[in-house]
Amino acid sequence: MCGIFGYVGKGQKDVESTIIVGLERLEYRGYDSAGIAIIDDNGNFIIVKRKGRISDLKKALENYNIPPSKIGIGHTRWATHGKVSDENAHPHLDSNNKIAVVHNGIIENYLELKQELIDKGHVFTSETDTEVIAHMIEEYQKYENDYIKSVLYTVKRLKGTFALAILNREYPDMLIGVRKDSPLIIGIGNGEMFLASDIPAILPHTKRIIILDNEEIAILKSDKYQIMDFDGNLKNKQIKEIEWDAQMAEKGPYPHFMLKEIYEQPEVIERNIDKYIRDGEFLLLKDHNLRKLLLNKNRIVIQAAGTSLHAGIVGRYLIEHFAKIPVDTDYSSEFSHRIVDDKTLVMAISQSGETMDTLEGLRLAKKLGLEVLSIVNVVDSSIARESDYVIYINAGPEIGVASTKAYTAQITILLFLALELGYLKGFVDKKTIDYYISEIRKLPYVISSVLYKDTQIQYIAQKFHKHNHFMFLGRGINYPTALEGALKLKEISYIHATGYAAGEMKHGPLALIDENWPVVVINPKTSVYEKTFSNAHEVYTRGGKIISVVSERDEKMKEISQEIIEIPEVDEFLTPIVSIIPLQLLAYHIANLRGCDVDKPRNIAKVITVP
Ligand code: M6R
Repeated sequence: MCGIFGYVGKGQKDVESTIIVGLERLEYRGYDSAGIAIIDDNGNFIIVKRKGRISDLKKALENYNIPPSKIGIGHTRWATHGKVSDENAHPHLDSNNKIAVVHNGIIENYLELKQELIDKGHVFTSETDTEVIAHMIEEYQKYENDYIKSVLYTVKRLKGTFALAILNREYPDMLIGVRKDSPLIIGIGNGEMFLASDIPAILPHTKRIIILDNEEIAILKSDKYQIMDFDGNLKNKQIKEIEWDAQMAEKGPYPHFMLKEIYEQPEVIERNIDKYIRDGEFLLLKDHNLRKLLLNKNRIVIQAAGTSLHAGIVGRYLIEHFAKIPVDTDYSSEFSHRIVDDKTLVMAISQSGETMDTLEGLRLAKKLGLEVLSIVNVVDSSIARESDYVIYINAGPEIGVASTKAYTAQITILLFLALELGYLKGFVDKKTIDYYISEIRKLPYVISSVLYKDTQIQYIAQKFHKHNHFMFLGRGINYPTALEGALKLKEISYIHATGYAAGEMKHGPLALIDENWPVVVINPKTSVYEKTFSNAHEVYTRGGKIISVVSERDEKMKEISQEIIEIPEVDEFLTPIVSIIPLQLLAYHIANLRGCDVDKPRNIAKVITVP
């Protein structure tokens, strides 16, 4: 987490505003504090940093008259080491205010390094792990008198994860970027270079990027770059053209990214249909090796976090049903405790492709000699690059911290995969494939018709937004919908919300229910409709206020519900893609009505790059 941005040009751009705009596009990565360091054309540092949002930093900057400059770095922080304060905000400096560093990640051995530097007379001004980096470069430079070598010596001594942007007043035309396990991208402009934690920050300036690999250092000047490994060996890197355009990362007419992304879902599904279905066939498993791999496995373990795990749980129902392969699902952070053998396929699911827990799960599987298939949104992200096989979900940039369009895109891909695998294994016939393809093609329209209910959902939100507890219930393939509905609500509205398997209520949680509990029951027409109805009835009998998500014309559920949200009737295995839409909207409106910052909920961040 944390977002870092760096810029070096020839004076063609205003450095301060270029950095601020870059940081605004990275703010989803952390928003505890923000800061910038600029070297002006006289070789002086202008350092401004503030606790709070980038808007607070901008306000502080109004009091500064920044002289002409060509180079600078910026940071938006999600605090790990050291409380949220002005002092702990990045950039951090060495003792002589010569070197400035911004950092995304964690330096695990910082206490030991700090002590070593204190013993040599360095004075620290923050509680962060990052500050040791500036001091250590300073220390090595005393003896080496070679700045780049000092950086190399320093990074080799750091344990942990880090993406860094570094400035040195003695080298006012040089911006250094370093990557180990935290993402860092170089943008190559016309007489200018950029460094950023993620692509959207670079998009307004250039589509030509280089993705740094682990243990690489980039030395950037306005019109040239050099990339080397931690031993100083030069590396030849390929420049890539980004497919995303700048508009995809803009809010457009929407008040929040989350709402924009909810509304993008029909388009994202359409994109995946275009990409992965042709002439009545699914195309995910065209790669001979991937096909062979999947056909040879007798078990799949899906490891992921948060929303991606919920998509994985839907995937479990789909793969087990269509392809008859047993699937386990696990939080990535718990995956290391599972048993996997060479007959197991490990699957990683991640929107960002940078979630450290999931990356560690992937690395563990590789260490055990297993091949990994990943389902990822961000192209060329760490998880995508370290996996043996990747299937992209083509959702475009997702900026809102609450994941929405990535979730339905992940499930769509898992549905395609389950059907294709089922067909290859002989469990699904051509007629069934044709039926599902025709049903899948209707999905964009079906989702649009649910989005049309936004005003009704807003009304329900108005009625219930003051409640402090919610329960979400679902069964079968909509059990993960209940988990995801609850996660959406709790992460953006700070309401205590729990997702439960509806059948589990009677084994304990039913005791909670009284007339103060809104209970969202997801019960579209599926094979578990009657059972879920009985579970909902048990809640109704105890006075719970039921808000139900059901198929059109469901009179039975209507009788026991205070509010009813109807969705078009679709095949059971497509229901999770449709039934989550009203729950995303409900969470969005409730959070808004409670005055919460929907796109940037407190304490969390979009990309979790710490274990
Ligand atoms: O980028 P990933 O899909 O790996 O992220 C996993 C979780 O951190 C993420 O889904 C998180 O739970 C979201 N904030 C949920 O909306």
